[in-house]
Amino acid sequence: MSSPPGQNAHWIAPSILSADFSRLGAEVDAVVAAGADLIHFDVMDNHYVPNLTVGPVVCEALRRHGVRTPIDVHLMVRPVDRIVPDFAAAGATYISFHPEASEHVDRTIHLIREHGCRPGLVFNPATPLNWLDYTLDQLDLVLLMSVNPGFGGQQFIPGVLPKVREVRRRVTASGRAVRVEIDGGVKVDNIGAVAAAGADTFVAGSAIYGSPDYQATIRAMRAAIAAVA
Ligand code: DX5
Ligand code: ZN
Repeated sequence: MSSPPGQNAHWIAPSILSADFSRLGAEVDAVVAAGADLIHFDVMDNHYVPNLTVGPVVCEALRRHGVRTPIDVHLMVRPVDRIVPDFAAAGATYISFHPEASEHVDRTIHLIREHGCRPGLVFNPATPLNWLDYTLDQLDLVLLMSVNPGFGGQQFIPGVLPKVREVRRRVTASGRAVRVEIDGGVKVDNIGAVAAAGADTFVAGSAIYGSPDYQATIRAMRAAIAAVA
């Protein structure tokens, strides 16, 4: 029973970083069957962040495998622009990047759009929101990191909650349909607080893939969100 985006107001985005990579296609099928709205795809380069993951060939392999759910590519790479067309061709839906990793943030946003994908900007815990001043009107997604990027399974940084509220305020004021996404340390027991602060899209890696029953975990997350909605 999958739930395409648009059906649920709040989207759950399992991060494949915590999946069993030896059987990735089946792991993605399993979270889609469990109710995932979006597949979060973490791309790390051992340069911008101190870890190395997967690239466009793996995204393309998931599409060939039959994954139809939107794919939310989170680029933790520098430089950014070289790899954008490859991910667009590989079937990415959203492509998000860190402003510190791009020489020309406006150019990168337009590059993502020109290649038929939805652009997102990512904020590390210490990255100020003034990067939104001249970009929000071009974005489809704002991703707030609630850990420092590079690894799954880290502790949620609660200091991000006021930042979520401020992004929600700016998005509402813009009148545009921009997703407000949170990434890092999201669990059943804190997802309600993040939703109450104004997030509508929730990345969860270890909380879902580390649990014995993906569907039960996603349901528990939706119930915790509904309790504060
Ligand atoms: C961290 C990644 C996250 C990570 C989240 O750099 O961007 O998407 O997979 O994993 P958890 O939910 O385990 O913190
Ligand atoms: Zn991520």
